[in-house]
Amino acid sequence: MKRTVGIGVFGVGKMGQAHVRRINDSLRGARVVAIGDPAPEFAHKAAPGLDLPDDAVAESITEMCARPDVDGILVAAWDGEHEAAALAAIAAGKMVFCEKPLTPSVEGCRRIIEAEEKAGRRLLQIGFMRRYDTGYQQMKQVLDSGRIGDPLLAYCMHRNPSQGERFESHQIITQVMVHEFDISRWLFGEEITRVRVDRSRSTSKAPEGLIDPLTAVLWTESGVRINVEAVCFGRYAYDIRCSVLCEDGDVALPDQLAPTIRDASGVRHEIGTDWLDRFKDAYNIEIQSWIDSVIAGEQDGPSAWDGYAAQAICEASAEAMGSGAEQPLDLMAKPAIYS
Ligand SMILES: NC(=O)c1ccc[n+]([C@@H]2O[C@H](COP(=O)([O-])OP(=O)(O)OC[C@H]3O[C@@H](n4cnc5c(N)ncnc54)[C@H](O)[C@@H]3O)[C@@H](O)[C@H]2O)c1
Repeated sequence: MKRTVGIGVFGVGKMGQAHVRRINDSLRGARVVAIGDPAPEFAHKAAPGLDLPDDAVAESITEMCARPDVDGILVAAWDGEHEAAALAAIAAGKMVFCEKPLTPSVEGCRRIIEAEEKAGRRLLQIGFMRRYDTGYQQMKQVLDSGRIGDPLLAYCMHRNPSQGERFESHQIITQVMVHEFDISRWLFGEEITRVRVDRSRSTSKAPEGLIDPLTAVLWTESGVRINVEAVCFGRYAYDIRCSVLCEDGDVALPDQLAPTIRDASGVRHEIGTDWLDRFKDAYNIEIQSWIDSVIAGEQDGPSAWDGYAAQAICEASAEAMGSGAEQPLDLMAKPAIYS
């Protein structure tokens, strides 16, 4: 068993570069030996700022997969590039970490599942980092213990201050709500069976034509109703909240610890504006756990099935947004490698 594994990072935008730095500066057991990007010139441009070996840039995912010093591949390219990169890594027998969404289409997710079935084992972990957040883990412990009874109703709020220039309307579901979809499946240990999406008055802070905020209602197999609210241009902060009403009590995501400030305007706790800061510890624990899987040669983090199920909720939500009606979900049978 290797003690230090070599990692290739494919896609070196904001997220990919943050992962390169966390692997090399904060985590143990791995070094980034290669980077690449669907736009290879961008990888060449990014490399000098990342303190990497001279031969680090791979011109393509194929070249990265062929390198003997690359044991695991982290895919942080833009959504539409995930499928090809993940399939190439799986075909090469490399462990792969793929940022969410797994792919922007349910069919694409199925192709990745088929590739893993063909390989006969799980090779892919998807980037649902909230599962590694201490606050969500504490909530799950309370729910799983049964201490406050069975869950009835949940509220998930996801408020962003703003989005990048390339942000499009449908991404409020695939980029933002998708985290709430996954964390709901994980918190309750159940699949979602139907979804409805409702619009509200849009904020004047959002670009013309964008629907923002958007709300969704999901129901789990046992009937828990989950109310999801997503805001993309909320301006004031990156504010993530979650609470669950159970038979005998309520459990909520703890607020992030921040110093208490007293000044002329009163007493307050500040809230950050950057998702990388809010979930910094969760990202570190998530990627450390993936590195440990690469070293061990066995994968047990959030799976391609989780990516598929979340994408199926995204697609049903997009349908529901168009029709205004409840949309049932029809998941494929779960392959044995994910049981
Ligand atoms: N798990 C999470 O919380 C989380 C958070 C953010 C993003 N993501 C996912 O990570 C993936 C990458 O997101 P990102 O935020 O890094 O996107 P990004 O826009 O910063 O980078 C994506 C791609 O855009 C190109 N690009 C970026 N900056 C460029 C520049 N200055 N010049 C030329 N090309 C440039 C590159 O090809 C790069 O791979 C996406 O799939 C996204 O959904 C996940």
